[in-house]
Amino acid sequence: MTIRTRIKQALADGRPGKELLLKGWARTVRSGKGVTFISLNDGSSLAGIQVVAEPELPNYAQVAALGTGCALAVTGVLQSSPAAGQALEMKALAVDIVGEADQDYPMQKKRHSFEYLRSIAHLRLRSNTFGAVFRVRSALAQEVHRFFAEQGFLYVHTPIITANDCEGAGELFRVTTLDPAHPPLTGGEVDFSSDFFGKATALTVSGQLEGELFAQAFSDIYTFGPTFRAENSNTARHAAEFWMIEPEMAFADLNDDAKLAETFLKRLCTFALNSCDEDMGFFNAQIDKGLIARIEAVAKASFARMEYGEAIERLQRAPVSFQFPVQWGLDLQSEHERYLTEQVVGGPVFIVNYPKAIKAFYMRANDDDKTVAAMDLLVPKVGEIIGGSQREERLDRLTERMVEGGVDPQGLSWYLDTRRWGSTPHAGFGLGFERLLMYLTGMENIRDVIPFPRTPRHAEF
Ligand code: 4AD
Ligand code: MG
Repeated sequence: MTIRTRIKQALADGRPGKELLLKGWARTVRSGKGVTFISLNDGSSLAGIQVVAEPELPNYAQVAALGTGCALAVTGVLQSSPAAGQALEMKALAVDIVGEADQDYPMQKKRHSFEYLRSIAHLRLRSNTFGAVFRVRSALAQEVHRFFAEQGFLYVHTPIITANDCEGAGELFRVTTLDPAHPPLTGGEVDFSSDFFGKATALTVSGQLEGELFAQAFSDIYTFGPTFRAENSNTARHAAEFWMIEPEMAFADLNDDAKLAETFLKRLCTFALNSCDEDMGFFNAQIDKGLIARIEAVAKASFARMEYGEAIERLQRAPVSFQFPVQWGLDLQSEHERYLTEQVVGGPVFIVNYPKAIKAFYMRANDDDKTVAAMDLLVPKVGEIIGGSQREERLDRLTERMVEGGVDPQGLSWYLDTRRWGSTPHAGFGLGFERLLMYLTGMENIRDVIPFPRTPRHAEF
């Protein structure tokens, strides 16, 4: 017996009497009179398999003394299980102890708080909750690529090191090789011309600007990569490093953009329900009781649309007192977003046409000259999950907006070039992958849907 079978497969198509080699980690070891039960899990599914070890094993004394967390290779025979909740178990013929674990192993059977588990993020992976989170994360990432591939979108890898601040919010993490103690100075200011790239550079906050260049050659494109924001907001929905999916379509307007966003999000909902059913069942039972019903409803719903102006009116009329002011011209805060999607609409809603002063320079000015063709998709429990817009394709208007907003047109001359030669109406959006995962799993903190979260004062592991 040399070929290993993954436990998921053994449980799915194994039959009593079949001899297999399984490898994994012991979640629990219970030794009783003349028998030891080991719950073995190899990460392939939520369910592990119960291994039954009996005294005939030559190393039974060691097996009976095994600790939670040890790594084992077990050769055995599948048999029908008398225990409730499992059809098959494995009677061990040989238990090879691959890696021992002593009593100090921090992941003992009891329930641990998510806060505590974050401090052992290297080991929390071996728990039911994080097993489910990271299996769903992996499956969804693959589905994102399948979706866009089917729709004929080109996948582009936009740079991570960049000299532009796409969102203009100044939340950049600087990339430099200058000596922080003795940076070269010119007129009292750091002189980045002698830095590695000959200019000030940073980690990207968005792949959009480069994505737009690709859309002007390949029509429909998307990026899916890490994104960095030095936003000092210590909330449950913000991370300093997160992953964003950004499609961009040439010959498209805000309507096309919203249509794509809706189709895409529904597809991911349906996929999670159908293809990650075991893990989704776990989230529904353990994390968020109404989860599956909510996602099923979204997968079928037609997403609402609401003008920003109407959203403000609704909020002003709301019989609740918000912490932040509500007034035309101000940005919506998380509490407002959640009120709109949870109380006013009761489902996903696109808020469209925001005041231009609160949105990025690249968004297309509407004819009223006060608003831009922006859309944010808000969903219950999470708030903003998608931010997108139709882009300003008119060279003169775009240059004006840049100057108004303090963005140097010289530094983005390559971006402006696409408006000079063969400019098209185009649109795109960004979906925060972790926000999506929070939405689909019911996990309430972004730190618990990303492997090793980077947040203010935290860059462990
Ligand atoms: O609304 P944002 O800032 O839009 C952009 O970056 C555009 N360039 C996208 C585009 O049109 N191509 O960010 C898009 C999404 C948000 O809706 C949110 O889901 C997520 O990215 N996001 C964050 N997720 C986690 N932590 C943060 N700090 C995030 N900031 C934004
Ligand atoms: Mg946004």
